Amino acid sequence: MYIPQDIIRTKRDKKVLTETQINNFVDGLVTQKFTDAQVGAMAMAIFQNGMQNDEKVAFTLAMMNSGTVLNWQNFIDEPIVDKHSTGGVGDKVSLMLAPIVAACGAYVPMISGRGLGHTGGTSDKLESIPGFNIHPSLDHFRNTVKSIGTAIISQTDDLAPADKRLYSIRDVTSTVESIELITASILSKKLATGLDSLVMDVKIGNGAMMTSLTDAQALAQSIVDVATGAGVTTSALITDMNQVLGQTAGNAVEIVETVDYLTGKHREARLHQVVMALAAQMLVAAKIASNSQQGRDLAQSALDSGKAAEIFEKMIAALGGSNHFLTTYKEELTNANVVKDICATQAGFITAVQTRDIGMAVVALGGGRLDHHQSVDHSVGFTDILPKGTQVNVGDVIAKVHAKSNDDADKAMSQYLQATQISAQIVEIEPVIYQTIL
Ligand code: URA
Repeated sequence: MYIPQDIIRTKRDKKVLTETQINNFVDGLVTQKFTDAQVGAMAMAIFQNGMQNDEKVAFTLAMMNSGTVLNWQNFIDEPIVDKHSTGGVGDKVSLMLAPIVAACGAYVPMISGRGLGHTGGTSDKLESIPGFNIHPSLDHFRNTVKSIGTAIISQTDDLAPADKRLYSIRDVTSTVESIELITASILSKKLATGLDSLVMDVKIGNGAMMTSLTDAQALAQSIVDVATGAGVTTSALITDMNQVLGQTAGNAVEIVETVDYLTGKHREARLHQVVMALAAQMLVAAKIASNSQQGRDLAQSALDSGKAAEIFEKMIAALGGSNHFLTTYKEELTNANVVKDICATQAGFITAVQTRDIGMAVVALGGGRLDHHQSVDHSVGFTDILPKGTQVNVGDVIAKVHAKSNDDADKAMSQYLQATQISAQIVEIEPVIYQTIL
């Protein structure tokens, strides 16, 4: 047993931590044997001096083992797969992906997060569905996954509790942006759900946590290496977040886009590309498809046959929502008081979008939160968002704002226009998918 200051000194002096030291640190996080000051100092030492892959694996496993670790053996035989995204604006991919992959025969127990800062959270989006319980008992969660193929719920206190304390201290000690700490934080929670394989969606761009390709690649590689070292087959896609993904940003409005996507009413092209690429990767990892093309074909058939939509509806019913959400979603979801067109003020091409600012405009409307205690207005946000590269004339609708009041709508409208650049010349638009790391 090491005392905290010895463990901190080891990392401060750029040495490699032993597994025992790492376990003592993580134990100290949970038992409070490490004070907040000592946790902060340790986080800063890791931030400054990094960790080798073996240290990261031991750290991730210790954090994972700080709470409940789900075990699906003797309960479900089929492959257990999941996807995790580093987050962005309009990222509703999980809502489509989980039922698609489940429809293809894999099991997807998905633990989702809340939005924080400018990014949206799948848990908040699901809570806009009347009756939906994102905190079911563990037994109910497991049984739903078994009977339907997927359940998406919220992070629970018993999965990787060490991360909860570490994350809150990182948040106030300028140590959030450490590849080592992000890797352990994300993976400890994901691996605690007992996965066989994982696909990471590392977002890159002005609406993402990683704004440079080099940082996104470093994070993706770190996650792939550590998860693989921990025995979970993992790959990563680096995908674009230099504009809102899909046509909506908010909560209920993203649920509407999800239903329209699953039922085939409308599938925005960039969103569809991301969903198909991730689905294919998950199906290959689950050994349901032998290559990416076969994975795509299977995913497309799950959409075309209506099976994915049916699974989404069943999941909603199993977790407390109505039995016929696909038919009644428009009436069930709360509409905003005011809906206004946002119109182009000049002619040209949409060439740049300050995606983070659009996320912050959703927060200002009440659709997100700046700290964990705030509540969310599920009805507000943006819809009918035109993608970059679209040619517009003066007066064309480039998006619609959904707000609680006229005042809020006007403010959000001016924020949206300020965040959207329209130029006479078309410029090259970023690819949807930058890289796949296997
Ligand atoms: N998401 C997490 O769960 N942890 C981090 O450290 C960063 C993003």
